[in-house]
Amino acid sequence: MGQQDRRPGAGFGTRAIRAASAPPRLEQAPNAVPIYQAATFSAGDIGELGDILGDRQRGYAYSRIDNPTAAAMAEAVAHLEGAEAGFALGSGMAAIHAAVASLVGAGDRIVSTHAVYGSTRTLFARVLGRFGVQTEFVDPTDREAVEVELARGARVLYLETISNPTIVVSDLPALVELAHRHDARVVVDNTFASPYLCRPIEHGADLVVESATKWLGGHSDVVCGVVCGSRELIAGVRELQVDVGAIAAPFSAFLVLRGIQTLHVRMDRHSQTALALARFLEGQDGVERVFYPGLGSHPQALVAQRLLRAGGGMLAVDLCERRAAQVFLDALSIPIRTASLGAVHTICVHPPSTTHRQFGDAELAASGIPAGLVRISVGLEDAEDLIADVAAALDEARSAVPAHTS
Ligand SMILES: Cc1ncc(COP(=O)(O)O)c(C=O)c1O
Repeated sequence: MGQQDRRPGAGFGTRAIRAASAPPRLEQAPNAVPIYQAATFSAGDIGELGDILGDRQRGYAYSRIDNPTAAAMAEAVAHLEGAEAGFALGSGMAAIHAAVASLVGAGDRIVSTHAVYGSTRTLFARVLGRFGVQTEFVDPTDREAVEVELARGARVLYLETISNPTIVVSDLPALVELAHRHDARVVVDNTFASPYLCRPIEHGADLVVESATKWLGGHSDVVCGVVCGSRELIAGVRELQVDVGAIAAPFSAFLVLRGIQTLHVRMDRHSQTALALARFLEGQDGVERVFYPGLGSHPQALVAQRLLRAGGGMLAVDLCERRAAQVFLDALSIPIRTASLGAVHTICVHPPSTTHRQFGDAELAASGIPAGLVRISVGLEDAEDLIADVAAALDEARSAVPAHTS
């Protein structure tokens, strides 16, 4: 069927459907990936359709299985991650679920880290837990503790390159070596770093997941995810998704493709401004600690220097008390107060009451998340404006909670 196939002798309905659903035939290639907003693709004949659905022939049949815009996005991210293949999903959580569920079954164990993203913890402990998968959460900087859990038998070691929200940097080569020695696959959430700062596959990770909602998309206007890895492992992810169906929408994939084209420029600027802000915050009255991988004071500063191209846009600051964090957040005028990260706007949040609200007090303490923690995703506003705004908000926090002034 094509533009010419307008069936002049047919009735209005037949002609309307044919005429209005025929894609244009182009002699020139567009300079942006088109949004293939189609649920179905017609094969030449029924045999070909069977071959495509049966994976004996490459092609498109149904967008829950494969869609050209989503595939183009997954391929682009896989290329930047240094992976053989990728698969696009509807969100970062869908990507994490797809990656891990493609590797584990009832009776298997996952070893993960204390300070993972709150929903990841819930997915592992509560959702996968209901299906007989057990997860141990350990300190990723304590190699002995990681090894003890791996030695008890684990299918997956699950890490975040830079952890949410305490900005712990995982020593990927060392942890991958440990995991592989104990026959565990390594899945790494690279969302905080993005492939511009770090490529976990190059350090031996088996699967890498990205919430493309964050730095890849970059503009707070899309929710999307992607998993990358070897052709074999991505085939497993795709096979699972054929039946789960948590696939990326074509328009979402298009927005991520557009974002990726400026990722390098944005990440350089996010990193520069974040470093300036981290340096300003360090040593201010009322600031107990600044968590930023680009600071010499960061506990994994040397690991960060080895693994990250720059410090990135994520930092966290401990303002000692929950109330001080709340006053500080409410006093800010430039950043937006919301739960996400990785955007042109600076985004500030109080993890214990938002992104990590799933953690009880004991889990917060075990994960090293202080009650007064503020997480800052540094945007592209002018650094001087941001620092002045943060300085004024700190003043308010100090006046409102004088006890926390050191
Ligand atoms: C580190 C990390 N991974 C994954 C996710 C989940 O991403 P999404 O919201 O796209 O599902 C988030 C969300 O904030 C995150 O911070």
